[in-house]
Order: sequence, then structure tokens, then C-alpha cells
Amino acid sequence: MLAFAHPNRSRETIFTREDVARMAEKLVGKASEFKDGDRRIVFAGNTEIGVFKDRGEFHAYSNYCLHQGGPACEGLIIAKVEEKIAPDRTSKGMYFSDTETHFVCPWHGYEYDIKTGECVSDRKLKLRKYKVVQKGDEVYVIA
Ligand code: FES
Repeated sequence: MLAFAHPNRSRETIFTREDVARMAEKLVGKASEFKDGDRRIVFAGNTEIGVFKDRGEFHAYSNYCLHQGGPACEGLIIAKVEEKIAPDRTSKGMYFSDTETHFVCPWHGYEYDIKTGECVSDRKLKLRKYKVVQKGDEVYVIA
């Protein structure tokens, strides 16, 4: 047994040698070619993974939507829309968040937090997350 954190299981999960053998680094591309807001879809065997760059950080998630298996990572990338509420509880209008970005499954609109992979309408639902590593100028996802 080897002790590594599995991306979609509890911290106590221990990988077997077979789990580790199946994991591989998949080249995503050159970090210098990624701008904030860019995304790539990579294939690791039969698995599709969406890799995003947001606010200088890379995030990678399964491209299979939790709703009905649509391409969760291929839709709109948009700042969270929030409503400002005045002290008297009246609305001061809607605005785009400066701190939170979402991506939206193009099939039926499930919206996910780009930092966590959580479905924003029910944060208990999370896309499978993959680790992203950078070696020099190359970006890899561990799948
Ligand atoms: S399959 Fe993604 S929202 Fe329905």
C-alpha cells in the first residue's frame, strides 16, 4: 500500500499499487501558452479532463457532468453573478464577482465552481478533481 491523497476520495484513502500504476502524467501544454480564462480538454485513456487556468492557477476536472453526463467543462466560463443587498434588505442590483469563477455545462446549465468543482446549486455535488503539476513550462494532469 502507498499513501497518496486520492483526488475524489477522503484523505484517509490509501491507493493500492494498482491504483498508482494506472496513474500517469498527461501533458496538457505549455504554461506560457495558457492565459487566464483558457481551458483545454485532454484525454487520458477513456477519460476526458477539462483543464482551466483561472487567476493564475490551474484546475482540472472530469468532463462528465454530474447531471446527465454532458461535457461539463466545455461550456461558458463566467464570473459568479451576485446580488448586492442594501442594509434595508432591498436589492442594489446584480454584479459579477471579483473572486469566484464558474463554468457551465452546455447541455442543461449545471454551474460549477472553477476552484473546487462543486456544483454551485448543491455544493455537496463535486466533479472529480485531478491534480495538475507544472514542470518547467510544461503543465501535466495526473490521471
Ligand atoms: S448534462 Fe450537464 S447540465 Fe445536464
